[in-house]
Amino acid sequence: MEEKSLRSRNWFGRTGKDGFIYRAWMKNQGIPSHEFDGRPVIGICNTWSELTPCNAHFRELAESIKHGVYEAGGFPVEFPVMSLGETLIKPTAMLYRNLASMDVEESIRANPVDGVVLMCGCDKTTPSLVMGAASVNIPAIVVSGGPMLTGKFKGKDIGTSDVWRFHDAVRSGVMDQDQLVMAEASMCRSRGHCAVMGTASTMASMVESLGLSLPHNAAIPAADARRKVVAHLSGMRAVQMVKENLRMSDILTRKAFENAIVVNAAIGGSTNFIIHLLAIAGRIGVDLTLEDFDRLSRNVPLIANLQPSGKYFMEDLYYAGGLPAVMKELEKFLNLDCITANGKTVRENIDKEESYNREIIATVDQPINPLSGVAVLKGNLCENGAVIKPSAASPHLLKHSGKAVVFEDIDDFKKRIDDPALDVDENSILVLKNVGPKGYPGMPEVGNMGIPTKLLAKGVTDMVRISDGRMSGTGFGTVILHASPEAALGGNFAVVQTGDTISLDVPNRRIHLHVSDEELAKRKSVWRSIVKVSDRGYVNLYQTHVQQAHLGADMDFLVGGSGSEVSRDSH
Ligand code: FES
Repeated sequence: MEEKSLRSRNWFGRTGKDGFIYRAWMKNQGIPSHEFDGRPVIGICNTWSELTPCNAHFRELAESIKHGVYEAGGFPVEFPVMSLGETLIKPTAMLYRNLASMDVEESIRANPVDGVVLMCGCDKTTPSLVMGAASVNIPAIVVSGGPMLTGKFKGKDIGTSDVWRFHDAVRSGVMDQDQLVMAEASMCRSRGHCAVMGTASTMASMVESLGLSLPHNAAIPAADARRKVVAHLSGMRAVQMVKENLRMSDILTRKAFENAIVVNAAIGGSTNFIIHLLAIAGRIGVDLTLEDFDRLSRNVPLIANLQPSGKYFMEDLYYAGGLPAVMKELEKFLNLDCITANGKTVRENIDKEESYNREIIATVDQPINPLSGVAVLKGNLCENGAVIKPSAASPHLLKHSGKAVVFEDIDDFKKRIDDPALDVDENSILVLKNVGPKGYPGMPEVGNMGIPTKLLAKGVTDMVRISDGRMSGTGFGTVILHASPEAALGGNFAVVQTGDTISLDVPNRRIHLHVSDEELAKRKSVWRSIVKVSDRGYVNLYQTHVQQAHLGADMDFLVGGSGSEVSRDSH
């Protein structure tokens, strides 16, 4: 890109009063005049926050990015955006993904940056930054924060998926509170995000398979010195991307999205991947549907042996060859000509990669599990579809019929699930309503609802569970999620009642409510929503404009982009 066409020149390249104002205040940071000579200005979009512990090392990581930008002849400028910490934010970080994406989009567009490095880590920080940047569409590269080192507790490897096991162990009396506190520090023993193939690792893998990051970005542990090397090299590369004018839309083609879906299937990525990828596609103008996920991942086996679908952790994945080695095994499923952030094609990036441990990165012919990916279920229970992750489900429940035990909302669930009088057995199907985007609001990760204590005591560890909510990427079980339309909108899912029979048939992608159309119509004619819509602020905006899960749960007015032009300035 010509120096004079850099967007930063519209600020720093000016003469007179305007140029004075744009440069003078920047100089209070000790920046010498020659930094404003027309070199690419690289924004470093930082989601550091002590309230987002997964990203708490980002100030240090940003220094490595800056070193790279300087080395390549660029001018780095670091700026903060809203950070979303999965564990602390209430009611759910997902409620704020779209808000954070607006912050990112407007911060990039409004400022004199020619390219941007997106610093992503905890679950929602990746999609919110990618969505926001995609709506501006300037050169962008992602640096992920990296996973934590594997947890160690009582001689065993542990990670986030064990939280659910510990929870059930405490409820059934196998583990006491003191042991639970000991496990806390043992699990989160280094910087970084969740060490399993939860949503954060899924998102880091998503950006790498889309081509938005350098190879190996996904799996290098946060505590490994090579994480800083990737950050440094990404800073260097961001400068070159500006010079080449390699924009997000050049990388985020339909074929790149297809690659991401294939890779996500093979690694047993989170179901949250679906919602976030659909939202990113919407921002960059790629037509992607729920059916694409099922069709493209149907024949892809699980080849990465990672929790929660398998046994190992992200650290192990890196030592076994990382995501490039996984992609090498998947060669026949991938679009190898897609261009990536380093300027090379997928083919070039994976050419010399290999698995160093077949127990962790297997082959397509001898996979960890022939089942993978997500199955998209259709039927009269959810007219726009629902999803299930077969590799995290119990095989014997993938074809199952049972009586529904319905909870009208999360409060109803919490009140009654452990009631000894609840009429439920292991063949029942738990149904949780009003935890969708509008209903909760924010579509929380409560879909893998806990098994009733009285069934846990009998040794039941899995049941069919259906909701319009999401599940943590670290969760597991025969859990059907993202039912659309959600209960708050009054479709068939809104009127399912306790005692109705539901049939699940994952191999044939069906979910059927055995209630006649006439009866459903009768129930809907007297249905009234129990959801309260907030009367002000962002939550009102969200509840009024959020789209359904099968469209990515973006707000309707955020779909698409506005480019990088700024038509007016105030000086
Ligand atoms: Fe941040 Fe899991 S809580 S990645």
